[in-house]
Amino acid sequence: MNQILKGKKGIIFGALDPNSIAWKVAEHCHNEGAIFTLTNAPIALRLGTINQLAESTGSVVIPCDVTSDSDMENLITESMKVLGGKIDFILHSVGMSLNIRKGKSYLDLDYDFTHKTLDISAISLHRLLKTAYKLDAINEWGSVVALTYIAAQRIFPDYNEMADAKALLESISRSFGYHYGKAKKVRINTISQSPTRTTAGSGVKGFDSFYDYAEALSPLGNASAEDCAQYCVAMFSDFTKMVTMQNLFHDGGFSFTGFSSEVMEIGKQND
Ligand SMILES: NC(=O)c1ccc[n+]([C@@H]2O[C@H](COP(=O)([O-])OP(=O)(O)OC[C@H]3O[C@@H](n4cnc5c(N)ncnc54)[C@H](O)[C@@H]3O)[C@@H](O)[C@H]2O)c1
Repeated sequence: MNQILKGKKGIIFGALDPNSIAWKVAEHCHNEGAIFTLTNAPIALRLGTINQLAESTGSVVIPCDVTSDSDMENLITESMKVLGGKIDFILHSVGMSLNIRKGKSYLDLDYDFTHKTLDISAISLHRLLKTAYKLDAINEWGSVVALTYIAAQRIFPDYNEMADAKALLESISRSFGYHYGKAKKVRINTISQSPTRTTAGSGVKGFDSFYDYAEALSPLGNASAEDCAQYCVAMFSDFTKMVTMQNLFHDGGFSFTGFSSEVMEIGKQND
């Protein structure tokens, strides 16, 4: 390892189990010399296996429901105490669709569920950034990354209201990226990741077919959670200092490919 995050302090949201993208990010950040706190919703802490990760990376776990202002403030304050100073990087790896979970289609959204989805999956990034800004918790040139999906730009019918949540998430990243960049030289980006087999990913209807289709269309194939973790490390490092307010596609080329010979083969099999 090159220890490119040596001396950096972070907060990692969203490691539920070893399939979680955040889990891999935590392992890679640890291998690259960073120290960080881990956080998840109290219920997820009870159901998941985050303590194993905390042990293997020497991290403290601090509960935070991302819809709670007081939890967010406590997380950031405690993280600075535990880590001994201001924060250099944050991974926002949080998403949940109540309508998908309860079997409601996009044409029949339950708006209470929709509000909750937007709060958990998008407004939480604003809450995180607002709280960090207020507490002046992030060092100059600090880097915040939130994970998103291309359904923010193109229609994937079964992605449901999560598509709207991701569009909002990306917009918040740009808007706050401007203000935080101007005031404190903090950078904020979203990484738009390939379909990945995780608890959140597999909850989307038809996930397996879609995963195979994306694999067949992308010239490099789907990016794995491990690949995503390495990209996050790069974005947290000083080698990407001038990148901010971007939505960065990390998808093996999927986003800019119209058609591929592999997809043509699938079409022929179905003829
Ligand atoms: N898996 C994919 O195909 C894929 C593709 C692109 C982007 N993403 C995004 O990557 C991120 C991580 O998802 P993942 O695929 O690793 O799945 P995951 O299920 O492992 O992670 C989602 C996390 O969100 C947490 N969470 C949900 N509600 C919360 C709340 N109220 N407070 C705090 N945390 C809460 C969950 O506990 C879980 O740890 C999400 O934003 C997801 O949309 C996933």
